[in-house]
Amino acid sequence: MDNRPIGVFDSGIGGLTVLKEIMEQLPGEDIVYFGDTARIPYGTRSKETVIKYFFQSVRFLLTKEIKAIVIACNTASALAMEEAQKVFEIPFIGVIEPGAKAAVSSTKNSAIGVIGTEGTINSGAYQRKIRRMMPSAEIIGISCPLFVSLVEEGWESTDVAYITAQRYLLELKEHNIDSLVLGCTHYPALRYTITKVLGDKVTLVNPAYEAAKATKMMLKEQNLLSSKLDGGNYNFYVSDDPEKFKRVGGNILRKEIGSVQKVNIENI
Ligand code: DGL
Repeated sequence: MDNRPIGVFDSGIGGLTVLKEIMEQLPGEDIVYFGDTARIPYGTRSKETVIKYFFQSVRFLLTKEIKAIVIACNTASALAMEEAQKVFEIPFIGVIEPGAKAAVSSTKNSAIGVIGTEGTINSGAYQRKIRRMMPSAEIIGISCPLFVSLVEEGWESTDVAYITAQRYLLELKEHNIDSLVLGCTHYPALRYTITKVLGDKVTLVNPAYEAAKATKMMLKEQNLLSSKLDGGNYNFYVSDDPEKFKRVGGNILRKEIGSVQKVNIENI
């Protein structure tokens, strides 16, 4: 048993979808969440920059006596997790492997789509993991950069979102995929619109849910589960305006966020 908190990292607020899943699947765990809201988006930045930002965030989380780090951000999981594992001793759980695994087990025709930020798709991280588990898979990766802005604007179920999705997802339709990885923290919010475009025969894989499941399994295997079964404490840190995070984040978690503290991440 280990009652130290779990660190959860995201480039901003989207990672709260992962936190929400962890809160449901591991209600006794204490959590320290850091959202790098001053430097979002990560999805359009170079690998070097994502690694630099992510390492600073890890160093901050390590000051909180955590036992593991969940990388809720797909872009950071894709571009910086491997590097981080070489440098830091702490266990990391990213979203890529759990998401890829779920896609492989849900497909029937071996045609799998992956959507994410430019950084995630161009890194080929999901494609490589899926290919390793299912060498015969046909994998179509598409970056959908406008999706993040649509969700941040609260427009995920509008006509604008529908038209944008039609355009981005056309190639997936042509390849007749039957499983689609929503490889970005924001995309589960577009479920309804994506299903409207692709039809309900396509299984949408939510790596946030899968990552929470993988976290539970890892903690169990390594004997790191909290002795509490309920009543986890949550502490939130961001690198920009805490008020906006509180407001928007409360909606995602469907729970009021008490206090959010600002961190000067550039100085770490
Ligand atoms: N959190 C990022 C991800 O899951 C999306 C937002 C960003 O570009 O930073 O890839």
